[in-house]
Amino acid sequence: MNASDTPFDDTTSDSSREHDARRDIVVTAALPYANADLHLGHMVEATMTDIWVRFQRLRGHQCRWIWASDTHGTPIMLRAQDEGITPEALIERVGDAHRRDYQGFLCDYDIFYTTHSDENRDCAQTIYKRLREAGHIQERKIEQLYDPQKQMFLPDRYVKGVCPNCNAADQYGDNCEVCAATYDATELKNPLSVVSGEKPELRESLQYFFHMAPFKAQLQDWLQHAVPQEELRNKIEEWFDGDLQDWDISRNAPYFGFEIPDAPGKYFYVWMDAPIGYMSSHLHYCTQQHTLAQWEAAWAPGSRTELHHIIGKDIVRFHTMLWPATLSGAGYRVPTSVRAHGFLTVNGAKMSKSRGTFIKARTYLEHFDAEYLRYYFAAKLNGGVDDIDLNLEDLVARCNSDLVGKVVNIASRCASFLSRHFDAQLAESLPEPTLYAQFTDEADAIAEHYEHYQFAQAVRRIMALADLANQYIADAEPWVLAKDPQRQPEVQGICTQGVNLFRVIAIYLQPILPKLADKAAAYFGESAFQWEDIFQARLGGTVQAFKPMLTRLDTKQTQALLDATKLDLEEEAKITGSAAAPTAAAPTPAPAYAPIAPTIEYDDFAKLDLRVARVISAEAVEGSKKLLRFELDLGHETRTVFSGIRTAYDPETLAGRHVIMVANLAPRKMRFGLSEGMILSAGDEDIYLLGADDGAQAGMQVL
Ligand code: 2FM
Ligand code: ZN
Repeated sequence: MNASDTPFDDTTSDSSREHDARRDIVVTAALPYANADLHLGHMVEATMTDIWVRFQRLRGHQCRWIWASDTHGTPIMLRAQDEGITPEALIERVGDAHRRDYQGFLCDYDIFYTTHSDENRDCAQTIYKRLREAGHIQERKIEQLYDPQKQMFLPDRYVKGVCPNCNAADQYGDNCEVCAATYDATELKNPLSVVSGEKPELRESLQYFFHMAPFKAQLQDWLQHAVPQEELRNKIEEWFDGDLQDWDISRNAPYFGFEIPDAPGKYFYVWMDAPIGYMSSHLHYCTQQHTLAQWEAAWAPGSRTELHHIIGKDIVRFHTMLWPATLSGAGYRVPTSVRAHGFLTVNGAKMSKSRGTFIKARTYLEHFDAEYLRYYFAAKLNGGVDDIDLNLEDLVARCNSDLVGKVVNIASRCASFLSRHFDAQLAESLPEPTLYAQFTDEADAIAEHYEHYQFAQAVRRIMALADLANQYIADAEPWVLAKDPQRQPEVQGICTQGVNLFRVIAIYLQPILPKLADKAAAYFGESAFQWEDIFQARLGGTVQAFKPMLTRLDTKQTQALLDATKLDLEEEAKITGSAAAPTAAAPTPAPAYAPIAPTIEYDDFAKLDLRVARVISAEAVEGSKKLLRFELDLGHETRTVFSGIRTAYDPETLAGRHVIMVANLAPRKMRFGLSEGMILSAGDEDIYLLGADDGAQAGMQVL
């Protein structure tokens, strides 16, 4: 297939498919790296995907969730070496743990496979050969950093050195956390290998590039309907200024992955075969199900099977450039949609091991039921890409108030009357059919919200109905009427109305709270709910014994979870021998202590004018993941300073704080404006602002 200016062979947007009678849908969540435990950040995406998948199935559509471990690349190879096991043993162990954790969070995927499979090797090699035959692959010699001690070429994140742009020390080989410049690892000054600590050398080697330029027009066109989140689409469009860069899709041995056909010693870059894992895992699933024809139909150009990818906002580029171009160039269909979510912060800051907020999925499950967190995330996921924040006290308060206090309360109040006074028999009719209709009238609006991943908006509507139901029961006062033998039929009617309103709410909440919905269905003697069931109230028959559906949370559980998280970290530190072990996708950690810089004379030091400054305001810098823009009060003047601490601090919490700054640093022109000084901070994996004790005033000189 030839890349030209013709559009991708893909015809419909996701919104135009919404009203199809029975949709055929394949959904993927990002494939987690098989080298570390899952943490609560992973559960945002897992929950988001599961809710959407369950919603589609509840509506009667065929919806397959295809998932797998992402198993290749240098971090996995090195991790296995560190543990003294084979990469195969590592990925099997971690893959099993991931399955167990995701199931614990009630993720109802159809398959959780692996990218280290025969199917993935075959798909990757077929795609590569097709791209090569179509002229999309180019060979080129490039210079890369090589670690002579470890005898391997170093990926960008395995080199650290001085930023070529701003001279900041201890920066990774791909971009600078201080000035946000991006560069090649070979441009770093004084580079050191993160693996061995040795100085790397430059070596030339042959690599294979995917020539992206011919796909530019097609990709731009495809974006318009395949990326429904406008803020994300605008961001992606910026990447299309100028020609598209060729993509290096190869890596040199030693590498854990698949060898490239006819290129001994060269392997597919992990980001080449990872998304192909969506396709190959689907192939494995269809083979198991004896539905191979469905797989072929799903991946053919113009397929009517919808293909939706749900991902974190950090991996958008791979999914909206490399992956659709790969598919199209190899003669396959392109994705229907790519949808991103933000990161998880805890108490307003990045999850952090040293702050004790790096909570593992498993540890959470030992202290709380999955449904509470699913509900909490759902109540915050609004279809956008902003980060979402977890505050455990807030989680306890919200779940107790909404789920226990409102939703389950409706059923428990009414169910006890039905069983005690009426032999669990429902009335023959609803006393307030208009109120019931008010509940079912919300169905379309709630479904629209689910369809567009606006779970927060759906939850708001559902909770408004729960309020109405509770109000109805409070006004009707069945406990007062129950005392009057003449009014028993009324009591039965009110309680029948109440449990039926609860049933509608349970059906609406089923994508978020599947266990609660199952218990509700069991109470009514139903096997499983379908969306349409809301239109048929349960009347006349009997209900089952009412069992408690959710228990009230206690803030003590919060402390127990945080204590256990602390223990996890200590445990990990024992194994890795480091206070800050590597995070899920991160490479081997940086040395805990940066070497002390060469000695300077007092006169050099005296040139620094360090001042206490008061933060007037701090805000995120558009287009930079790392930078915050500060307005600082120095007593007699104000300054604008950019500082690379965005990942560690919520800017809204910083106004009024006192920081220490280098006040006489020459102003530096950055991509986002002029920076008039530097704010001091400390740390390695985590960043901490250096502050001043009470009494220090803006403008005071640091002595
Ligand atoms: O960023 C990550 O965690 C990757 N393992 C996601 C891969 S998604 C897909 F392309 F496989
Ligand atoms: Zn820099």
